[in-house]
Amino acid sequence: MDVETLKEEAGIAACAYVESGMKVGLGTGSTVKYTILELGRRVREEGLEIVGVPTSLATRDLATDVGITLVDLDELNGLDVVIDGTDEFDPQFQLIKGGGAALLREKVVAQSSASMVVVADERKQVATLGAFPLPIEVTPFSYNTTKRAIEQSLGCNVSMREKDGILLTTDNGNYIADAHTGPTLTHPEETERKLLNLAGVVQVGLFNNMCDVVVLASSNGVSVLEKGD
Ligand code: A5P
Repeated sequence: MDVETLKEEAGIAACAYVESGMKVGLGTGSTVKYTILELGRRVREEGLEIVGVPTSLATRDLATDVGITLVDLDELNGLDVVIDGTDEFDPQFQLIKGGGAALLREKVVAQSSASMVVVADERKQVATLGAFPLPIEVTPFSYNTTKRAIEQSLGCNVSMREKDGILLTTDNGNYIADAHTGPTLTHPEETERKLLNLAGVVQVGLFNNMCDVVVLASSNGVSVLEKGD
């Protein structure tokens, strides 16, 4: 089965966690895109009544296009659920996110949600985090100094993410540093703490103790993994 079909299956299956009346965080990426499309269909065709909070400008545009009512997170007193993709998840449901450069807003929204449902295909399941380069949002001011400080802190190479030959700028006006740790992140909470200590680091793409459920699509079908299973 091709990866796109797996993404679609996981994305649609996760909609089971959404009911009328809910305040829903809408993640970013090529998997949760299918969740947003399906939620939009349910809004238009089945009268599903939800409000959504997007985690990126791209998701804001997609959700608007498909007819989901959007609100500012600041207008709400928390969310019922956020559905989002991931770049990796480990057996403790710790995540690496930020492959799409939306990690800061994704993390603010995830921390405001009563529960977090992750949609993934089987390639995202790992024993130890870190084969996927760890995205770190950094402030543009003296970013090379911050990059060197990250390299020193983690003991690995760090590359600044580019798009079309120039440094990629996030929705928040920052840059992304990708840390090439390899699959060595056995203590992601400690790693997050160390990195957040560096003044130029805005946020780290480690989502620790946030994910409750993974809706996982593989060639054997869709399975729902719950934390602690
Ligand atoms: C966005 O910054 C990321 O955190 C995405 O949620 C993550 O990269 C998963 O994206 P895909 O579903 O496109 O792999």
